[in-house]
Formats: sequence, structure tokens, C-alpha cells
Amino acid sequence: MTLTSCIFLVAKFIALPMDCRKLMSISFSPGDAVFFVHPQHSWVRGSVISVEKDSATCKVEDKERKEVQQGETIAKVKSDGIEMFHNECLDDAKHDDLLHLSVLHEATLLRCLYLRYMTDVIYTNIGAIVVALNPFNYEIPRYKDDRMSKFLALGKHFDKVPNHGLYPHSWACAHNTYFEMVENSENQCVLISGESGAGKTEATKIVMKYLAGVSCLGGTADEKKHSDGVGAKLTACSPILECFGNAKTVRNDNSSRFGKFMEVKFNGQGRLVGAFTTKYLLEKSRIITASEGERVYHSFYVALRGKYKGHLQFESESTYVSVNSGKCLTNKEYDTADDFEEVCDAMKKVGMSDDEVKSVWHIPAAILNLLNVGLLEDKAEREFSTFDDKTQKFLVQAAKLLYVSDQDLLKELLYFVRTTPDGDIVSRTSTDGAIDARNALCKHMYDGVFAWLVEKCNETCDAQSQGNWIGLLDIFGFEDFKLNSFEQLCINLTNETLQGHYNNFIFNKDMAECRAEGIDVADIISPDNTKCIQMLTGQGGVIPLLDECCAIDKSTDFTFLDKVDTAHSKNTFYGKNKTSRDTFFVRHYAGDVTYTITSWIEKNKDTLRDQMKLLIRRSTDKIVAQSLPLPVPKEQQKGKAPTVGGFFALQLRSLMEKINATNPHWIRCVKPHPAKKALHFDGVMTMKQLESSGVLGTVKIRKAGYPVRIQNENFLKKYRVCVTVSTADPMARIESVLTNAGVSDKKFSQKGRTKVFLKTEALTRLERFRDECLKEIASTLQRIGYGYIDRKKCFLQYVEKHRAELLRQKKEREERERAEREAEERAKREAEEKARLLREAEERRRKREEQKLQEKKNSAAICMQRYVRGGLCRLRVFRQVLEETRAKFEAQREAQFVEERRAARAIDAKRQASEKQWISWLNNVDHLKKKNSVDQQRQVKHDEQKRRINVRELCRKEDEDRQALDAEEAHDRQALMVRCEMLASHKKYLRDQETRAKKMFETQTNPLHSATRAPPPTANHRSARSDARTKEILSDYAASRAKAFEDFFPPPPPKNTFAALSDLSQQRGTPGRPSDFGSRERFQVAKDRWVAQDQYLESHVMPTPVARPRSGPTVSQPPSQQHLDEMYSGPHRTVGATMQHSLDSGQAATRATPRRLDQEPPWLAAQPTSPAPSVQNKRGGTDLRSAIDWDAVFNA
Ligand SMILES: Nc1ncnc2c1ncn2[C@@H]1O[C@H](COP(=O)(O)OP(=O)(O)OP(=O)(O)O)[C@@H](O)[C@H]1O
Ligand SMILES: [Mg+2]
Repeated sequence: MTLTSCIFLVAKFIALPMDCRKLMSISFSPGDAVFFVHPQHSWVRGSVISVEKDSATCKVEDKERKEVQQGETIAKVKSDGIEMFHNECLDDAKHDDLLHLSVLHEATLLRCLYLRYMTDVIYTNIGAIVVALNPFNYEIPRYKDDRMSKFLALGKHFDKVPNHGLYPHSWACAHNTYFEMVENSENQCVLISGESGAGKTEATKIVMKYLAGVSCLGGTADEKKHSDGVGAKLTACSPILECFGNAKTVRNDNSSRFGKFMEVKFNGQGRLVGAFTTKYLLEKSRIITASEGERVYHSFYVALRGKYKGHLQFESESTYVSVNSGKCLTNKEYDTADDFEEVCDAMKKVGMSDDEVKSVWHIPAAILNLLNVGLLEDKAEREFSTFDDKTQKFLVQAAKLLYVSDQDLLKELLYFVRTTPDGDIVSRTSTDGAIDARNALCKHMYDGVFAWLVEKCNETCDAQSQGNWIGLLDIFGFEDFKLNSFEQLCINLTNETLQGHYNNFIFNKDMAECRAEGIDVADIISPDNTKCIQMLTGQGGVIPLLDECCAIDKSTDFTFLDKVDTAHSKNTFYGKNKTSRDTFFVRHYAGDVTYTITSWIEKNKDTLRDQMKLLIRRSTDKIVAQSLPLPVPKEQQKGKAPTVGGFFALQLRSLMEKINATNPHWIRCVKPHPAKKALHFDGVMTMKQLESSGVLGTVKIRKAGYPVRIQNENFLKKYRVCVTVSTADPMARIESVLTNAGVSDKKFSQKGRTKVFLKTEALTRLERFRDECLKEIASTLQRIGYGYIDRKKCFLQYVEKHRAELLRQKKEREERERAEREAEERAKREAEEKARLLREAEERRRKREEQKLQEKKNSAAICMQRYVRGGLCRLRVFRQVLEETRAKFEAQREAQFVEERRAARAIDAKRQASEKQWISWLNNVDHLKKKNSVDQQRQVKHDEQKRRINVRELCRKEDEDRQALDAEEAHDRQALMVRCEMLASHKKYLRDQETRAKKMFETQTNPLHSATRAPPPTANHRSARSDARTKEILSDYAASRAKAFEDFFPPPPPKNTFAALSDLSQQRGTPGRPSDFGSRERFQVAKDRWVAQDQYLESHVMPTPVARPRSGPTVSQPPSQQHLDEMYSGPHRTVGATMQHSLDSGQAATRATPRRLDQEPPWLAAQPTSPAPSVQNKRGGTDLRSAIDWDAVFNA
């Protein structure tokens, strides 16, 4: 929505056509939305069409009221019948309390009740009062008994439970009443009022039921049982009292024709213990007759139809005058034999015997008969009455039922005794007098039996209690009929008195609220009806004057009226219609009621002749006899005789004393429609009842003070447009609004602590002022808006031109910029091209360099490969040669071992042969010994000596040779060790080369670092095996040589035989000493082999002496002798074993050995990476070709 349209809308809604307003005596103008009084529907919504001098014509526009005719025009609506409609009223139906209505007025009140009633919400609060609209529907779910538990569960006074969420209800009222009684130990009362049929008796029952329920909460089982029993008794009383005290009327099919105040008693713990009922003013005329469409009391009809109808000897129903007087024999309630049965049962429940029950029914039956007794004008003496013989049977039957003589009864009807100073005079009664006497008898008897029944109920239900009580007042509501008589005066007096009590209570409460808000209430005058009550009951009041007249025999109704007139003609509450002589009106709180004074004196006297009382008292039936009191003896009759009015005033005073001593609660019952149907609403009727029930009185009380109360924040929100001060202080802002609207005076408004209190006029002024403010704002808005629009138009034109110019400039600029941009781009492109070419050249150069580098790398790799492969190849060849050599050595050694063993065996064989020769020689020596002489023995000795010398010489020579040989052997050993050292150095050299190659790879090619090698096998198993075998052979050889040595040097022969032995050797040849030449030869062979090995190493393995660094210290330090003896003690030692020895002895840690050559180079073994799968060659070594990642080497 554009700003313009907003402004127009605001202007349309706010700026009302004030110019066409004609300010008249009423402050409304055509088009105003208002509530106005419709003659048939009371307050309805509509609008003012035209305004006349002191009235207006309004049109109905109320879619929510279905019964009204939309668009209907009502002329001449008085100014006090029109009320401004405020938008706030749209939400009024939501309020549970009518006092929370934003505008408290009859119209808003009625509308709220209507909207709620139509949605089945029948209870609404107005302050302390519960307004209950009769729903004529027991099926509304939220009001069914099962929902009572929600209220019961609250367990505290509602006001003390925040946000309890429970709706207004008679239960809520009963709940609060009960808990106030319990918490404050104070008697309470619930005043239930309303017009006939509004639902008072039902409400009383609802409250009673709730009280019975709530009093049982938390009690023991026994207490509950007792309370239940009391409740049952109280419930049982209901049909009895209703049957005898209720009747069908046009307003209510079960209308209570008496007032009732029930004191529901509780013990100290708050448990229900009993109840005491007081009845007020039974409508006696209804015993005799009923208006059309109505009935006399229910008891007459059920008696006629009940089980005792035979016993009571009834004739047909149509026979009896009274029951047919209203021409309405049937009713929804208390109509049938079953109802009769129910009442009889109830009587028994309250403790009546069968006889008593029967006796009770005698009285209605007797009355029915009595009322059929014809009393006519005596044709001879017209001023006197006579008995209609045709009705004899009724007289007889009545007397029979009353257990009195029918003649006596007739006599009492037709004659009366007048007491004069001269004595008693018996006179005949006039026809009216006779009829009055009969009717009076009936009335008194019925009233008497009703009182007896009430007493009986009290006997059963009442209980002495130390606790408190709650009074339930089910009293007749305010009445205003076409013809109002003495009864209506009594009824309205009751209501007026109750209203006075209510006014005081509520007004005081309201004032208390005002004071709490800090409002000055000095000027507020409460609506006060005490003067009215005073006029009716006070000294010289209407009722005392009536009593006065009743005390004077000659007084008539007119003399009474004259007296009243004289006494009260100037009283504002009193008035007289000039057109009628027998009426006067009283200005009651609920409206003016005109009373007709006909028969007031009689009614007030309501006397029953003493003779009649005595007659009934003589009845043989106890209950019948008790139905009338004994006449008061003359000597006891002091002053005035008791009157109905006097008695009633007394009762009322006593009732008010009771009520004043209690904490009151109110339930105002309203009958929304005469049709007695659900969801029917009659505005006028409802309004009237609201008035008569005092609900509007509450509004008046409010109006007397400040009826409009708006929360401060709401007030400021609504009237913020009227604030002219720039302060945040809410009170100052409120003051500003009130001052600006001209309602700051105390007579219009006051500021409370939380609310602003306003009179209705102040609200109207405020509203008007707000309208004006809004109008001003609207015109300001329009001014600003229109100005804005015009400026905007000009601006737009300017903008248009400016935009065109800007567009042109922009285009030019764009063109220029484009050209510049293109040039720039071109230059940029060229620069980029140049840069690209440079980059490409650089790239090419870089590639060339890379290529060169690659080639270098490749050649380096090839070189390295060459070296490494060469080294590896040499290593492989060396290993191969080493292996072959080792194999050859081993084969040779094997062959040599075989040869040596064969030689050893040959030596053994030779030795054995020598042994044999020696044995044979010794045998010969023994033989010669025997033969030779002593001379020869000398020669032998000499020879032996010479031989010994020779042998010693030989031994010495052999020792020398051996020493020489050992020296030579040591020399050779040392030479071999030198060779081994050289071999180790060579190996180290190779390894260093490998390390350097590796480093080169590492620095040039990283991928080589990731190459992994598996460790080679660590042991040369063949060498170990060979060692074992060598050791074994050497030990064999050493053993054989030791043996041979022993054999070679036998123990010396005996001295005398030595020469012979020498001779024998010369002759036969001495078996020579085994020569050590074999050992030398073998050593020579070994030595030759070592030399050959050496030479081979010299030629195949050893590098050129120039390239091989010698490890001097290693060579210069020979191994220890013991070690060498262990390791080099024989010629069969392998080269591998020798080298192993060198390594194991730790003499040269850096010395290379064949075994270490078999192992992978340390720089490969030191790689920390995970081992790559290594290929084992046939000898268990590692094939370096597969261990080195040659691809990586070449790629690098
Ligand atoms: N709460 C209710 N729910 C449903 N129907 C109700 C309720 N209250 C009253 N009524 C109906 O209205 C009828 C009249 O009610 P009730 O007898 O209580 O009126 P009353 O005010 O006592 O009249 P009266 O002054 O004539 O005795 C009841 O018979 C019943 O049909
Ligand atoms: Mg009633």
C-alpha cells in the first residue's frame, strides 16, 4: 500500500464529517455508531440517522442479535436511551466480570450477557454478584455435575488461587462461601434472588449440593457418611416443601410460593451436620384459587391422584372448584400418583409415621371439600349468608376429614360471636363474611400444616452445632404486576431491604477500592434507599399505618390510604396517581410499583375467628388439631392484635439481623425469556430483571463514583495522541491528556495508582477530544502527505530531466571508459603476450636445463650404475670364486683327509709290523741272552750306549727341525693374517664406495631413500659344518699322533741286552723310529696350499696395492698365541674358519671377512624403511641385484 493511500484511509476513518454535525441537546450526530433502546429488545446496536431536538432517529445494525430486525428504524429515541458505541465493546463478551467492561453501561452489560448466554455461558460475575441466566437446559456440558470436582479440587478461596482458570458458577460462589466460613470462622449467607422462574430454587439446590460435597472433602469415612446422611435428609425435605409450598404459575411450573431461609450448619471441622429452615410468607390466596393458566398448590392435585384418593373419598377432579379455578389441571411436576408416592416416601424419610402421613393429606383433601361448600346469599335476609344444600356432601366430607362435626363447622361458617361490653353476641355472617371465614379456615389450616411440615423437616435435619452456618436465602424476587396487592408490597419490601443491604455492602467495597487507589471519595454519594424502607416500615410508615387501621374496627382500605397519603405525600419515594382513588405507588430501587389497596385491611388482619380455631383444635386428629394455634386468651391480648404485615416486618427484621451478622454472597437469577425455552432472549425482560435484582444498582453505584476505570497503561496507549508533554512519567502524561480534554477536574476524573477513574461524561469528552486530535493529526498527515506528493512530483520531474542528463553523461563516460578500457586491455594483452613469450622462452630454457640436468643425472646414474653394478658384479664374482674356491678347498681337504686316514692306517699297519718285528727281535734277544756270555754283554752295553747317543742326536736334530718348521709356520701364518687384513680393507673400501654411491643417490634422487632392502642371511652353515668336521678330524689326528709317538719311543731295553739289540739292528736291520718326515711333508703340503691360496688371493681378490689402504696396527698386532693355537693348530683349517677366527677374536673390528662380504652393505642394512622382499640366492646369500631398486636409480 502506498503512502498516499494510507493517508487517504486514515483521513477517511478519522476525519469524521464534523462540519455536518449539528450540536444539539444530545451529543450525537448522524452516522454515529451507538447503542440505543429498542422498545421490544432493549439496548441494541445501531447508528444515528438524524438528530431532533431532544431525541434521535436510529437504525438497527446489530448482526449479533438474531431476534432484532436489521435496518429497522426507531424514531424518537430519547437522549438517555442512546449511548456511544466504542470499539472496545467488541471484546466485552470475553469478560467473566461485568465490572471489567471497558465501558460500564446498561447497553454493554446487556450485550455481554446476551453474547455469553447465546454461547451457553450462563454465569457471569458483576463484582461480588453471580448473575445466573436460566438456561432451561440441564445438558450444558461445562455445568454438569461431573465438572464439580474441578472446583472442589481447588481447596482454597478462589481469590487466593492465582490463574485457577475456573469460570463463574454458583459452585464458585458456594466454594468461596464455604472457605470464607472455614477460614474466618464467620457465618456466611448466600442471597439468591430473582423473579419467579429465574432459577432460585435450582440455584439453592446447586449450592446445597456443593456445600455437602465440599464439607466432605478430607473428612473421615464416618464423617463423610454422616454428612451424606444429612445431605440425604435435606434432599428428602425438598419434595415435601415443594409439594405443599410450590405451584404452577404462568412464570414457573414449579414456583415456590414462599420465601425460604435455610441455615446449613457445620461443625467445628467444617463438616455438614444439619440444616434449619425458616419459611416466609406463604402465598395463602393460592390455597383458595388460581389465576387462569395457573394452579393451586401441587399438594391438591397429587392428593386427588395419589394412592389415598380412595381413603380420602375424592370425587372426580372436575368436581373441585379450587383445582379447576386456573383451568389448568396438568403440570410437568408434582402432578401424578408417582409424585404423590415420592412425597409420601420423603415424609417417611423425615420421620413421619404412616398415620401422620395420612393425616397430613386429610388437610388438603378437607380444604378441597370445604372450598366446594356453597355459601349463598340468604334470599330472605340478603345481608346474611346461607348454606347451599347441594354441597352438603362436601361439608360432611370436609368435617369427616378434619374429624370435626359438620354441623359445628357449618355453624362457624354462618355465625360469628361478637364480643361487646355487654357480653358476647352471636350474629349471622354476611355471604362475604361466611366465604371469608371458610377461606380463612382453609388458608390457616393449610399454612398451619405447611408450618408443621417445615417444623418436621427441621426436627429431622436440624442439629446443635458449635460451628458456623451458611444461610441460603431463596426468596421471592421483586414483583411488579398490573395489579399489585398487599403481598407484592411485602415481597417488594423484602427486596428493597435486601437491596439496601447490598448497596451498603457494595458501595462500601467500591469506596474501599477507590480509597486503595488513592481516589478522593468525599464527594461521592451512594445510592441510598433507606428512606424508601423507612417509608414502608418505619414509624408512621405504610405497614405500621395499615396495622393501625387494622386495630381500628371502622377503618377501611380508604381510610388507610388517606393516612398514608397524608403522612408521605411529600416523600420522594411515594406517589399517587391522580386518576385512581385506590392506588398509590412506591418509588422502589427497581422502579415505580403501583399498589391497589383493595382488601388490605382484611389481608393484613388475616384473622381466623377463635371459635373456628377452637373447633379445629377439638379435632381428634392430632395433626389437624395442630394445624391451627390455640386462640390467645383475651387477658393476654395486649395492645394491637398481630397482623400479617406486622409479623412479616418482624420476620424481615430478624432475617436482616441474621444477614447483617454474616458475610453476604449474592446469586442473581435472571429469566431471559418468558417462553421457558433454551437460547431465547428477551432484552426488555432481562433488562427489567437486571434492574430489579440490583445488578444495575451495581452500575449505579459505580456511576455514583467513577464508572469508567481504565488501567493506566491502557489509558496512555489509547490517548497517546492527546499527550502534549514530552516526559516519560506516566502520571504526567495522563494529567496532560485529562487537562487537554478538559476533564482533569475531580468531578470528571481522578488518577488512581493503577487506574484512571472517569465519569461517563468525562469518557465522552475524552473520546471527542481524541477524535479531534486524530483529525488534527490526520490533517497534518494530509498536509505533509500532499506536500510530499507535490514535492515528489516536482522532484520526479527534476529527477527525470536530471536522470536524462545523467544518462547522457553516463553514456559518454561509459564510452570513454570503454575506449580507455579497451586500450588498457589491449596494452594488457600485449604485455601479457610478451610475458607469455618470455615465460615460454624461460620455460624452454628451463626445460633445456632440466633436460641437461636429466641427462647429467642419467649419465651420473649410468656412472653410478656402472660403478655399483661393477662393484656388485665383482662382489658376485668374488663370492662365486670364493664359493668355488671354498668348495674346491673342501673337496681337497676331503681328499686329503681320506689320504691322511689312509696314511694313518698305513702307519698303523707299519707300526703293527714293527711291533711284530720287535716281538720277534725280543724273542731273539731272549734267546741270545741265554747263549751269549758275560763278555758279549759288555759289548752289548757299549753298543747300546753308542746307539743311545745316536738316538739322542737324532732327537736333537729332529727338535731343531721342528723348531725351524714351527718358526716357518708362524711366519706363514702371520703372512696369511696380513692377507686377510688386506682383504678386509678391500672390503671396507668397497663398502665405502657403496656408501658414497648411496649418498650420491640420496642427494640426487629421493626415491632411492624409500627403497628398502631385506637383510641377508647371517650364517654360513657350510663353514660351520666344515669346522665341526675339521675339529673332529684334528682330534682323531692328534690322538693317532700321540699314539704313534709312544710307539716311536718305546721304553729302553735292559742294559745287557742293548748291545745285542744294536747288533741285531745292524745285522737284521733295526726297525727304524717312525720318521717325523711324514708330518713335515704334510705340513709342507699345507703350506704349499696356503701359499697357493695366497697367490690366488693376490691375483684374484686383492686390489692393487696403491688403492688398498693398509691397516697397519691390525697387521702389526698378531693374535694371541693361545688363540692361534686353537684356531691354526692344523693344516686343515679352512680359509673361512681362519677369517671367522680373526673376526670373532675382535682383533680387527673393521677387518673384512668372506662372511661379512656375504652380508649386505651396512648402508643398505641401516635403511629404516620397511624391508623390500629380498631374493635369496642358492647359497642363502642375498642377491644384491634384486635388492637395489635400479629403476629408481635410473629415474633419478
Ligand atoms: N440451572 C438450571 N439449569 C437448567 N434449568 C434450570 C436451571 N435453573 C432453573 N431451571 C429451570 O427453570 C425452572 C424454574 O426454576 P426455579 O424453580 O428454580 O425458579 P425459581 O426462581 O425458584 O422460581 P420461583 O420464584 O417461582 O420459585 C426450573 O424448573 C428449571 O426447568
Ligand atoms: Mg423457587
